[in-house]
Amino acid sequence: MNQFFRDVWQGLHATPKYLQSKYFYDEKGDKLFQQIMKSPEYYLTRCELEIFTTQAERISALICSNLKAFNIVELGAGDGFKSVHLLRKLREQKADFTYYPIDISKNIIMQLSKKLQKEMPGLEVCGLNGEYFAMLEKIKQQSGKNKVVLFLGSSIGNIPFEETASFLRELKARLLPGDLLLTGFDLKKDPAIILKAYNDDAGLTKAFNLNLLKRINDELDADFDPDRFEHCPVYDEQTGACKSFLKSTARQKVRIGEEGWIHFEKDERIFMEISQKYTAGQTDELAAEAGFKPLLHLFDSRKWFLDALWQ
Ligand SMILES: C[S@@+](CC[C@H](N)C(=O)[O-])C[C@H]1O[C@@H](n2cnc3c(N)ncnc32)[C@H](O)[C@@H]1O
Repeated sequence: MNQFFRDVWQGLHATPKYLQSKYFYDEKGDKLFQQIMKSPEYYLTRCELEIFTTQAERISALICSNLKAFNIVELGAGDGFKSVHLLRKLREQKADFTYYPIDISKNIIMQLSKKLQKEMPGLEVCGLNGEYFAMLEKIKQQSGKNKVVLFLGSSIGNIPFEETASFLRELKARLLPGDLLLTGFDLKKDPAIILKAYNDDAGLTKAFNLNLLKRINDELDADFDPDRFEHCPVYDEQTGACKSFLKSTARQKVRIGEEGWIHFEKDERIFMEISQKYTAGQTDELAAEAGFKPLLHLFDSRKWFLDALWQ
């Protein structure tokens, strides 16, 4: 029995039901996420891109003044759309580094490695397909250099708020004194703007969520009918938690594998993903809680997004 099956089985037998969002990213999921990033409603990518295009020099100078030779390790690198701007700046400044993008999607890691070979010949790239911490352990065996860890795109928001400090402490346990961490946080703003980013008019976020049911059908021999589930994101302004659910539109039974059955009541929901929103102050508190020192806040011009550099 593989891990994907075990996680799906456990999540769909829990009360309330849930699925782990790391499983969104198969080949179709990667493509849908890239389309989401270009959609007019998904402001997050454009905000962070603005930070990386206008302030890469500042980030690069700060890294180079702190560290001589280092590795750039990117957690959940995706297509590296924003990080390439920093990689270019670091190369211009003749920095001595190897780039280790980590991603659970084999497809996206292969795409990114090929793209970088073509666009930045000579850049030392070592793509790693797997989970964040397992891959950090692999890097530790290959190189003892200091690290600059990138955790962009607000992926940190996909960790439940109450678990984020312990995730960061686990990350810190794998770092060396002097290592740097640059994390993208989506900031609290008009709730309507936030909610729209997870419920775009073209239906991309809906397709992205439903694609996980299709992946379960394909890889775990299940018979989900995606047409019998509705995409329902909700945002709680007080807690900053934006949560996506799939709601069963009917009382139904879904088969997984040869004889596994999951029962759904009408309107019963599967919790799919959290996208936690922060205030800048909360990110500083998080740094302190996890044992990091905040060095720099980098905002976009509207202050909708923050890339925080910590040591
Ligand atoms: C929200 S996307 C962000 C991608 C990229 N960082 C960006 O800013 O555009 C999250 C990425 O992290 C990867 N990912 C999610 N969970 C992961 C995990 N536990 N370990 C490794 N990669 C993961 C996904 O495959 C996906 O490419």
